[in-house]
Amino acid sequence: MRTYWVAFAALALTQAAGCTTEADTRGRALFNDNCAVCHGRKADGNGPLAPKLEVWPANLSELALNNGGVFPADDVLAKVHGYSNSDHFADMPEFGSVFDGPEVMWTTADGARIPTTQNLIELVIYLESLQVSE
Ligand code: HEC
Repeated sequence: MRTYWVAFAALALTQAAGCTTEADTRGRALFNDNCAVCHGRKADGNGPLAPKLEVWPANLSELALNNGGVFPADDVLAKVHGYSNSDHFADMPEFGSVFDGPEVMWTTADGARIPTTQNLIELVIYLESLQVSE
């Protein structure tokens, strides 16, 4: 868990001072543009397209709640980034180059360092801010 916050702190530092709200805004825009149609703007799984899908979109606002109160950031990153070979996520679109941009190193909870993009990290940070506690 600690490495996770270290990664966030490092990310915040790479941005111009005081720009965390900018990051938050970008994460929000990415989420609203690419995810909300299915998962809903509150990430509760009730996007406008949800009733038309074969599999109901997951409630992403309860990911922390369902994981003992810890937001599973690594898991979310892996799913958004690496789901395309899985039938399970057949209904989730390929995002192609949507999240391309400057690369950053992400330190996973078990200490591995993986390259990813800043856009994806900002999306995940925004998603974490939508978590409900009960
Ligand atoms: C076209 C609809 C659609 C869009 C757009 C979409 N998703 Fe999904 N997503 C789904 C569906 C359906 C599932 C449930 C898959 C299943 O359970 O088999 C899912 C599951 C997930 C899961 C797994 C949740 C869990 O319980 O582990 C994550 C994380 C996720 N989506 C994140 C995102 C993010 C982030 C975006 C935007 C970048 C996004 N999704 C865009 C339909 C969508």
